[in-house]
Amino acid sequence: MSASAMSAEFDDVPGWTAEAVEQLGERHAIPAACRGSASPAALAWLAEACELAPGIRLLDVGAGAGGPAAWAAERFGVAPILLEPMPAAGRAAVRLFGLPVVAADGRRIPLRTASVDAAWCLGVLCTVRDKAAMLAEIHRVLTPGASLGLLVVLARGPQVLPAPDGNHFPTGGELLGLLAGAGFEVVEQIDQQTGAPLSWTRRAEQVAAVVASRHRTDPAFRLAAHQGERFARLFASGQIAVRLVHAVSRPA
Ligand SMILES: C[S@@+](CC[C@H](N)C(=O)[O-])C[C@H]1O[C@@H](n2cnc3c(N)ncnc32)[C@H](O)[C@@H]1O
Repeated sequence: MSASAMSAEFDDVPGWTAEAVEQLGERHAIPAACRGSASPAALAWLAEACELAPGIRLLDVGAGAGGPAAWAAERFGVAPILLEPMPAAGRAAVRLFGLPVVAADGRRIPLRTASVDAAWCLGVLCTVRDKAAMLAEIHRVLTPGASLGLLVVLARGPQVLPAPDGNHFPTGGELLGLLAGAGFEVVEQIDQQTGAPLSWTRRAEQVAAVVASRHRTDPAFRLAAHQGERFARLFASGQIAVRLVHAVSRPA
């Protein structure tokens, strides 16, 4: 992804989102800060599959503004550690949820080997060219046998046209090969079937409307909106789809 598109979508918008949530109220925070297509049903599937429980150290790689990790802490009592390279997104997660954020790239995670109990990586892999390096790093920091929950936007055919700037969608077969190569065993995978209920989407839309009203004329807003429109067209035409995956880390 070009640096400007990446920082518009993954840094400017999360920062503006945090400001808008502060205006609208904290019940808007989690729906607005889930920026990787995760619905409550998808998060619940991942949480149950990974057997999240109170006190589990859950590393969220590419955590964005922290909505999924905050949801897991609120509903399952986990102790999240967020890893996010974009500074304003990390600040948004701290501001909205008070969660610990490590500012780093998922291909070089500054955590000890076998130091986390579970990991999530939601809506991130398609934005990363070197997916093998990121998955290998996640495998390194997980304890052997620990769970990895993934939300991945997959290509349903050999080509996705026009691909949004900087996205490299793997096919289902490629994803399975990458996971096996990094030392993961896939336990289960499903296509995301249910959308979010109105109680969730309305709040996310209200936050998006405040962001639009304040930043509509900003070039970064237009860039991010353009990316969003391209994604929506690709989902509507069936060229891409969301897959949820539960895998476990095999001992190295
Ligand atoms: C679509 S957003 C999803 C954010 C969050 N996981 C969620 O579901 O709300 C993709 C995230 O991946 C992050 N990202 C992109 N490249 C990354 C990398 N190399 N290492 C870690 N995170 C990365 C972006 O900064 C962005 O926050």
